[in-house]
Amino acid sequence: MIFRINKIVLSCLCLILVTSFSCTTKDNSKLNKSNILDHKVDSLLALMTLEEKVGQMNLYNGFWEVTGPMPQEGDSKTKYDHLRKGWVGGMLNVKGVDNVRKMQQIAVEETRLGIPLIIGYDVIHGYKTLSPIPLAESASWDLEAIEKSARIAAVEASAAGINWTFAPMVDISRDPRWGRVMEGAGEDPYLGSKIAAARIKGFQGEDLSRPNTIAATAKHFAAYGFTEAGREYNTVDISTSKLYNMVLPPFKTAAENDVKTFMNSFNDLNGEPVSGSKYLQRDILKGEWNFKGFVVSDWASINEIIYWGRAKNKKEAAEIASKAGSDMDMEGYVYIKELVNLVKEGIVDERIINEAVGRILRVKFELGLFDDPYKYCNKENERKLIGQASHHEAALDMAKKSVVLLKNDNNLLPLKKEGQNIALIGHLANDKNSPLGSWRIASDDNTAISILEGMNAYKGNKLTYKKGVNLYEGITAFAQEVKINTTDRTGITEAINTAKDADVVVMVLGEHGFQSGEARSRTQLDLPGLQQELLEAVYKVNKNIVLVLQNGRPLALEWAAEHIPAILVSWQLGTQTGNAIAQVLYGDYNPSGKLPMTFPRNVGQIPIYYNYKNTGRATNREGNVFWSHYIDQENTPLFPFGHGLSYTNFDYSDLTIESQSYSINGTINISVSVSNVGDYDGKEVVQLYIRDLVGSIVRPVKELKGFELVSLKKGETKRIDFKLTKAELGFYNNNGEFIIESGDFEIFVGGSSDTKLKENFTLK
Ligand code: NOJ
Repeated sequence: MIFRINKIVLSCLCLILVTSFSCTTKDNSKLNKSNILDHKVDSLLALMTLEEKVGQMNLYNGFWEVTGPMPQEGDSKTKYDHLRKGWVGGMLNVKGVDNVRKMQQIAVEETRLGIPLIIGYDVIHGYKTLSPIPLAESASWDLEAIEKSARIAAVEASAAGINWTFAPMVDISRDPRWGRVMEGAGEDPYLGSKIAAARIKGFQGEDLSRPNTIAATAKHFAAYGFTEAGREYNTVDISTSKLYNMVLPPFKTAAENDVKTFMNSFNDLNGEPVSGSKYLQRDILKGEWNFKGFVVSDWASINEIIYWGRAKNKKEAAEIASKAGSDMDMEGYVYIKELVNLVKEGIVDERIINEAVGRILRVKFELGLFDDPYKYCNKENERKLIGQASHHEAALDMAKKSVVLLKNDNNLLPLKKEGQNIALIGHLANDKNSPLGSWRIASDDNTAISILEGMNAYKGNKLTYKKGVNLYEGITAFAQEVKINTTDRTGITEAINTAKDADVVVMVLGEHGFQSGEARSRTQLDLPGLQQELLEAVYKVNKNIVLVLQNGRPLALEWAAEHIPAILVSWQLGTQTGNAIAQVLYGDYNPSGKLPMTFPRNVGQIPIYYNYKNTGRATNREGNVFWSHYIDQENTPLFPFGHGLSYTNFDYSDLTIESQSYSINGTINISVSVSNVGDYDGKEVVQLYIRDLVGSIVRPVKELKGFELVSLKKGETKRIDFKLTKAELGFYNNNGEFIIESGDFEIFVGGSSDTKLKENFTLK
């Protein structure tokens, strides 16, 4: 009843304001959707008390799941009390129609104005049906498939009451020690921007007010991926040109693609904790980019301004963050405690509060929550849509597309389907949990199809499974820490005996899904525990090994790259892992994935990435020691960005560029022939890189500026066209200005970043 009355009051008020506005407008037709929205927001704002406004800026965690440090305050009683007072704008980690309805009912039916809650969750790579982890999906370079994966995640999440996801994570990172590289699109800003756009489109769809689309979040703004030494939550100190050229492009793309929210990050940037960064949030995001949505803090990150030593207490933290443009405080208890007084004391201008609340309300209006706050609370949809067969099919398709074939000596893969004696070895081969990754939301533990199960579906061969060694002894319940086995070798002999007689040994080794993700930085990037020992022991008796890596990040596996004939990167592929891997191993699917991140030879090379700068001493000119190198390791990576093989082979030829000279405003047309010269139909990611040879600041040796995923039948040739314009040829200088300079450029086209096929042109 109260809800109905409130709704009536609100709609009347909106109508009055909208009508009066349209009457005073000379050209009624100019009253567009956005104006109407502004007026709805303003009319609601006019009804709100200061306390209610600050309440909208407060985001509370649900009562049963925690995705950050245990809050030091805010027990359930306080949260319920605040909810009833209208002091909560949204909740996170509440899922399921019944639970969401319960919270929404309090907000809508028990508070004075009945403003609905926004309900957020980390829907990162699926809700119940899990797709591959985002880094894996990015290895597909298949934007359509990635968009579809996000779409399905939105369909399932929205059917469970959720209307806001904390995804996509668009942090560029060059440091695989950082556990969160699993959640992003890798090291490249161009690829990262394309993938960001695809994910946002998938989550938000064409019309946010539909019940199966959800608001997306571009996170973590900004530079979190450059955390020093790859250590989680660490400091970041980078130049303006690196910020603009490497870090910001996917965020800018997200803003251009109308992402509804941004989340800031835990790091500082050049001395300013970013939740308090006016430079990032007001000047760049809301200023330069004219972003209209709202900025949510990360979990207690406003409070952490105190621990950084940038604010002396909550009051100062609230002042700094609100003035800097952080609109909503996630589980930090800072805004709700301090902002009202800060306004009353005249320290924070109420216009800052109005602006933040206006942004939040706007997104709620766009979601259609004021029309029907329970639109995501449909039991029938929840039952019908979540986990439906078509979602599993799509997850399988995405999983196959995400696999990267690093190496395939003597065409060991694909495996023959009959008459073979195959040994399958490794703890992870029989693990139904690890492939789900560390963001598994509503998916139940142990629900992935294991590789053993997937391979068992192929009946023509004799398949014998042995664990070899345990990767881990256990996983702690709350923190989900993986206790790695470093002592128990009892299964090794059995594995050796099985491998001895096998035609081919498939070894599934790597990291557990809980060894990457937030707070999972590593200093070693080898195979954890006793797996390397197992690999070498098996290799001694049988060299026909296919190594299937399960990993949440690039690993440094020099020995394996040198000795093992076939290596597949399978990441954590989600619910359909085993089916996907089996189909790839048996050649029912021809892999086409390409690395979105460089694989180093060892940890000492990190950060290592393809778009590095040349240095003044790039080569060993006189055969002496004074050049940029290591004395104990090569400079080159183990596997470069963009690398990935197929069961077939592709040939590149006839790279042509229309002219050798262009004006700065011109369009450069490039084309190349790609032929499938092998024995299978296949797909290839054709990649275009540029090098700006001389610049007013040093330019990278290569930059990805175009790619196309092409299907080629056996024997087929296609001509692929690319265009380069100002947007691709320019760059940001150290003042954050986008400039384009005349001079000589090289272009490279091929199937990896180390392609040598090259042409030149000059910009005049
Ligand atoms: C902390 C993480 O950094 C962020 O990405 C996530 O969305 C929040 N916790 C909420 O779970």
